[in-house]
Amino acid sequence: MRRLTEQEYSTLRDGAHVIEADGFGDKVLLLNDCSFLKLFRRKRLLSSALVFPYSTRFTLNAGLLAERGIPSVTIIDNYRIPAIKRTAVHYQPLAGETLRKVLKGATGDSSGLMRQLGQFIALLHEKGVYFRSLHLGNVLLTPDHELGLIDIADISCGRLSVGPRRALRNFHHLARSKVDMELLDSTLRKRLIEAYCEASGRSDDFQAALGKVLHV
Ligand SMILES: Nc1ncnc2c1ncn2[C@@H]1O[C@H](COP(=O)(O)OP(=O)(O)O)[C@@H](O)[C@H]1O
Ligand SMILES: [Mg+2]
Repeated sequence: MRRLTEQEYSTLRDGAHVIEADGFGDKVLLLNDCSFLKLFRRKRLLSSALVFPYSTRFTLNAGLLAERGIPSVTIIDNYRIPAIKRTAVHYQPLAGETLRKVLKGATGDSSGLMRQLGQFIALLHEKGVYFRSLHLGNVLLTPDHELGLIDIADISCGRLSVGPRRALRNFHHLARSKVDMELLDSTLRKRLIEAYCEASGRSDDFQAALGKVLHV
């Protein structure tokens, strides 16, 4: 991880656009060369982020996703920026739009997209990828009509595929997103469930349980 001085950070940040911020400051910056800088603060004084910062996890996860052929961002560098008490990951964005944005702007039927999302989540689980931040704001539809992931600090990748219990737990993350649940009517949720279960070969019992998780 490269240490940036206040001056180096200020140069990197010059002309940047703030994409996301919260009460603690900037979170995601679009730099003037169109690359992204995502900043992480340590939430507690003593935490695993001290030895294993979120920016490092983000970078390792980008490698694990690439090995599995899952589209995601391309890492440029990792920084420690003591002047603002942050670590940061610098990356080239994945081209495309979040599914949240695509669905908000959709004029026609989004069943096909739900089918694709169900198959995509099944593929993630088959490849052992458990994406804790699974919601429609973190899945991108690329110009090649592929799906990919952003915001990848919270992923665990195992050698074994994700079993049914954890898979259900993973869908809870999506169900907790109120904005996403409002975007998906019951027909779209059913399409998603059917596509996931068909692609993953899960049982009828699983399908019923998933229906409950997604309130259909
Ligand atoms: N790789 C990327 N490609 C395209 N847009 C991105 C990318 N990374 C971030 N963004 C944009 O920045 C926003 C916030 O990024 P994200 O990493 O999800 O941060 P947050 O922690 O705020 O959820 C996204 O909703 C998306 O619009
Ligand atoms: Mg996000």
